[in-house]
Amino acid sequence: MGNLRRTRYCGEVRLPDAGQEMVVAGSIAKCRDKGGIIFADLRDTTGILQLVFDDGTDRDVFAKAQSLRSEYVVIAKGLLRERDAKTTKIATGDVELYVSELRVLSEAETTPFEIRDEVSVKDELRLKYRYLDLRRESMHQPLMVRSRICQIVRNYFCDHHFTEIETPILMKSTPEGARDYLVPSRVQPGRFYALPQSPQLYKQLLMLSGFDRYFQIARCFRDEDLRADRQPEFTQIDLEMSFVDDNDIMTLNEGLIKTLWKEILNVDVATPFQRMPWDEAMNRFGSDKPDTRFGLEILDVSEAVRGTEFVPFKAALEAGGTVRCINCKGMADKLTRKNIDKLAADAKTYGIKGLAYTRLTTENETSSFEKFLTEEEKAALRAAAGLETGDVLLVAADANWVKACTALGQIRLLVAKKYDLIDQSKFNFLWVTDFPLFEYSEEEGRWMAMHHPFTLPRADCIDKVESDPGACYAVAYDIVLNGVEMGGGSMRINDPALQQHMFKALGFTEERARTCFGFLMDAYRYGAPPHGGMAYGLDRMVMLMLGRDSIRDVIAFPKVQNAGEVMSGCPDVVDPKQLEDLHILCELPAAPKSAE
Ligand code: AMO
Repeated sequence: MGNLRRTRYCGEVRLPDAGQEMVVAGSIAKCRDKGGIIFADLRDTTGILQLVFDDGTDRDVFAKAQSLRSEYVVIAKGLLRERDAKTTKIATGDVELYVSELRVLSEAETTPFEIRDEVSVKDELRLKYRYLDLRRESMHQPLMVRSRICQIVRNYFCDHHFTEIETPILMKSTPEGARDYLVPSRVQPGRFYALPQSPQLYKQLLMLSGFDRYFQIARCFRDEDLRADRQPEFTQIDLEMSFVDDNDIMTLNEGLIKTLWKEILNVDVATPFQRMPWDEAMNRFGSDKPDTRFGLEILDVSEAVRGTEFVPFKAALEAGGTVRCINCKGMADKLTRKNIDKLAADAKTYGIKGLAYTRLTTENETSSFEKFLTEEEKAALRAAAGLETGDVLLVAADANWVKACTALGQIRLLVAKKYDLIDQSKFNFLWVTDFPLFEYSEEEGRWMAMHHPFTLPRADCIDKVESDPGACYAVAYDIVLNGVEMGGGSMRINDPALQQHMFKALGFTEERARTCFGFLMDAYRYGAPPHGGMAYGLDRMVMLMLGRDSIRDVIAFPKVQNAGEVMSGCPDVVDPKQLEDLHILCELPAAPKSAE
């Protein structure tokens, strides 16, 4: 850089700085040579500043400016001056740097795509050259915001008596979660570490160690299918607190959200957030993460049609199930027969047999099922659903109410998205509370913990943990924002006897419980404060704050669908010697037959 040292960042200079000499450094975003005058946009991590060279510029410097190409890395000294042709497109649009010295620090080949937000580039290419993609403003900014969020989170927790503590990345594989990523031990052949799915066990132990309040911005790893809001490795804002109840935890976290949204987005979030028991969320929204930015709530019309001879309804009700509907108010014009048929096809993919409908327009009434009802049943159903001219009623019946509600919940979202019913400017926070303690796994043929095996049952359910697991609720809460589960947590069991009941309900023999969780069970014998906590998905939080559709946009080097990383090409085969050291023999499945 010779004698030049940076004195200012490009994106931070403003009109009051005009008249100052300064040195800036960065990459050339764009260069326009207009003959006697050259404009070059210089980009650094803070933004863009226009550099100018003209016939008053030293000839050597001007010649160097003529050689500038996109993405050359330069350092430039000059006088900041007011711009004639101002622009509001960039934050520094009132000023420009009239350059007196210029050094090219690194030349650049032509990049595989233009580094500009307006250019549309295939995902594959963007991921292969992720380091170039991250130069673009729209990709750069989320990581900058993410960093600020982490800083605010740290300050907030430290101001509230929390201690930041790191927990191991190489740990014991424990059952009851997603699939683990395993790491073989070289020193202990045949043994494996697991990468943490979350720091859950360690943070509980830290409460037993007397730390009182812990937090960590923690990397987590889960070998599960990728989705827009799911990555195999992701980051949690993880916390645990002693001598508190669930209400204290939720209140403290509302304070964190309020602070973050104010400082990052200048949005005032009203607290306390709405709290909704899981049963109500399922009944009204067909989801444990309801999007409350729009209506289309699910209605129970079972009583209106109880006793009907219409087979789908009758069968569902006789099996102890339910008939539910959504009244799409005033949507008859949009929800034509054809569109309703499409929704019905979708409904089947959500696990129910079909979607019945009634459509009332000023011209006619069409229904897929009303002809099978008596006049009284029809009238009772329409009254229960509040059906009026212009409305479309979508009805689902199933022996299993969770299935019926879940399917309608998905339809609800589909209709809202398709017909633009969602106010995108809203931030609707909600606590979903009182989750079931267990859920039954058909696959495993046993009860599984809905959160994890250390979740405290609600006081009125403690006696039923082993005798009636299906009727038990947990002191657990999820924080939901605009229909996305942003975080979740629970109070924990601190009574070893209750923990034993829990393991039994989950089908663990004593021996297996000891093998898997012996160290934890022992720890709780030496005095454990009441404690609970939660974890946010940091990636999801940043995505939601910035209104992005995928957490991939807020992670520097994300994985793709096949859990690989396109740029570096991992996972990859390794040197046979490495496998030998680890005593690993690979027995691969036969390659799939080709299509012919
Ligand atoms: P949970 O499993 O609900 O709870 O995870 C907490 C939050 O982490 C985020 N999250 C993910 N984000 C991206 N990709 C993933 N694969 C992924 N999986 C989870 C979600 C979720 O709400 N130890 C408990 C917390 C506790 O009880 O304290 C836990 O991990 O936003």
